[in-house]
Amino acid sequence: MSSIYSATVTAPVNIATLKYWGKRDTVLNLPTNSSISVTLSQDDLCTTTTASAGPDFTKDHLWLNGVDQEIEGSKRLEACFRELRKLRRALEDEKRAQGDETVVPLSAFKLHIVSENNFPTAAGLASSAAGFAAFVSAIAKLFELPQSATDLSILARQGSGSACRSLFGGFVAWNMGSEADGSDSSAECIAPREHWPEIRAAILVASADKKDTSSTNGMQITVKESSLFKERVDNVVPKRFEEMKKAILAKDFESFAELTMRDSNQFHAVCLDSYPPIFYMNDTSHAAVRVVEEINKQAGHLIAAYTFDAGPNCVIYYLEENEQQVLGPLKSVLGKLTGWNKKEKISPFVPTGFETRFLEK
Ligand code: DP6
Repeated sequence: MSSIYSATVTAPVNIATLKYWGKRDTVLNLPTNSSISVTLSQDDLCTTTTASAGPDFTKDHLWLNGVDQEIEGSKRLEACFRELRKLRRALEDEKRAQGDETVVPLSAFKLHIVSENNFPTAAGLASSAAGFAAFVSAIAKLFELPQSATDLSILARQGSGSACRSLFGGFVAWNMGSEADGSDSSAECIAPREHWPEIRAAILVASADKKDTSSTNGMQITVKESSLFKERVDNVVPKRFEEMKKAILAKDFESFAELTMRDSNQFHAVCLDSYPPIFYMNDTSHAAVRVVEEINKQAGHLIAAYTFDAGPNCVIYYLEENEQQVLGPLKSVLGKLTGWNKKEKISPFVPTGFETRFLEK
């Protein structure tokens, strides 16, 4: 009987505080601006992926939450498989050149990949970032590749842009880079989560529906049609990128909160400035913005920051010491509005950071 070789990894979800929106190269997923994100706790939201290789496997396979996926024709998956095999082949050649004849020719074997999310798919939370990060890391582990997390982030980026940031924990920057081949468009950790352990993120599930404009399509429409987008990329984001890094390093919550909210607002403004317009936020999302504004007004300073990705779900950042002050009003006001927990099995709030808590209404 022939051997099967496997490796398992988990990769976390990340939520951008400075958004990636726009590609200068749609094949390599090269962005039009640098971005910053916070990586959520793996205990709360993550993808677990096992990669296996064996001489008897006849075809590459990928199962996502139990469903067999089409690999052929998916340029992103094919690119990841191809690049990872290329690195493994180089490693095997190097070992053989050093006289090591025992090296297993994994680069020639077909792969079976099994990937599962630990969060309910119905919650409508973006999973491609964790998914591609786990996919690349699992195969890299199986192949025993010596490449760094930054090197692997370049591969994960080709699967899904935001996936490159899920290779790191804590606060993460994706530097847009300037090389045409994307070799300097990679992620790095700005600060580990231990740097600012008091930060929490609460996820408010405003809708479990699948978004109708994918990020990839939405970005293309915005780049082509929005004049506001040009202003954002040329004059706003470069400065904001530096300011946000500074706020994180200084643990300056108020600056971090304001920059995060302004960036979410501008991202959704360029979506609206696209033609046809793209709407990701819904009435519940808008209500969440109002409640956060009211919480901050009552506090007399910024203690909560909202951000929305390409969908209506809201992520709220706050400091642990303000948890009751922030989550209390959100639960009571928005809970009444949506009737949460009557139809949802899970609580709308998934506080993340260092421990998982499901708040009951
Ligand atoms: C709004 O990374 O999903 O979440 O590169 O086309 O796969 P592709 O797009 P994707 O876009 C994420 C967009 C965003 C902002 C962000 O995460 O920075």
